[in-house]
Amino acid sequence: MIKKAVIPAAGYGTRFLPITKALPKELLPIIDHPTIEYIVNEAIESGITDILLIVSSNKNAIIDYFDYNLELETILLSKNKLEEYGIIRNIAQGVNIHYIRQREQLGLGHAVLQAEAFIGNDPFAILLGDDMYVGKDKPAIRQMMDAYNEVHTNVLGTIEVDYKDTYKYGICIPKGKKEGKLTELKGVVEKPKVEDAPSRSAIGGRYVLTPTIFKYLKNQTRGAGNEIQLTDAILRMMDEEKVYSYDIEGKRYDVGNKVDYIEAILDFGLQKPEIKEELQKLINKKSK
Ligand code: UTP
Repeated sequence: MIKKAVIPAAGYGTRFLPITKALPKELLPIIDHPTIEYIVNEAIESGITDILLIVSSNKNAIIDYFDYNLELETILLSKNKLEEYGIIRNIAQGVNIHYIRQREQLGLGHAVLQAEAFIGNDPFAILLGDDMYVGKDKPAIRQMMDAYNEVHTNVLGTIEVDYKDTYKYGICIPKGKKEGKLTELKGVVEKPKVEDAPSRSAIGGRYVLTPTIFKYLKNQTRGAGNEIQLTDAILRMMDEEKVYSYDIEGKRYDVGNKVDYIEAILDFGLQKPEIKEELQKLINKKSK
């Protein structure tokens, strides 16, 4: 049973500079909650009991966000602001959050390697700290945990992207003809040139992996962008274990991308009872 998840959140967030100089990308607000809280909630709703957040030295604000703020709680209680007290008390209830620092930002593969001792011998989930999903019927990582329970081996969560965008992603090479949502893979390639992209099936920030991955991450050399890539280690692991792709059902927002980020704010805003009508009016007015 998969109970542990890793959320890498130690990257520089260069696409969102200068704000990410002082504010971690993962704390960019979707109105009044940070992106990473939605990702933590996805893990909780999927039955994860323990999360390891991979952070870096300038990301302490993430740790503070998930901690209690007793001073603020006392003030809110003294003013009888019980609703606000409940809002801050209930953040990330029902899960244990652990932290480790990635001391150098050598890439996603290197970030995941920091989780080796925490994971031990069980399969585990990975949710990237800047990829948000609104799952169709089930949360994205729950869909993948169910897929793992069918095949009992590594599963990469995939989305279909335009060929022109394949250079931004890890791209899957199916073994045979693609039928259904679960597909056995014969390869994966990180950020291929558009003309070399083997398919449109892109890894979308969700993984269920066995601990075998750590053996390959330990001696993984640098790849695309001169970074230690998780995708490259997964490719080498395919000599030993099967790897499947699973087409995630739902809407994905890459919050590290500015337009996706704004879309997330609009979509979530339109779900919020206290602002949805006014926001809809504003959208109508602006789109005239
Ligand atoms: P990204 O490449 O999307 O994040 O990595 P980034 O490097 O922070 O952002 P840009 O591209 O410069 O704008 C995917 C995930 O892996 C984490 C990031 O925090 C993000 O959640 N990551 C990346 C690490 O934890 N450590 C790394 O060394 C690199």
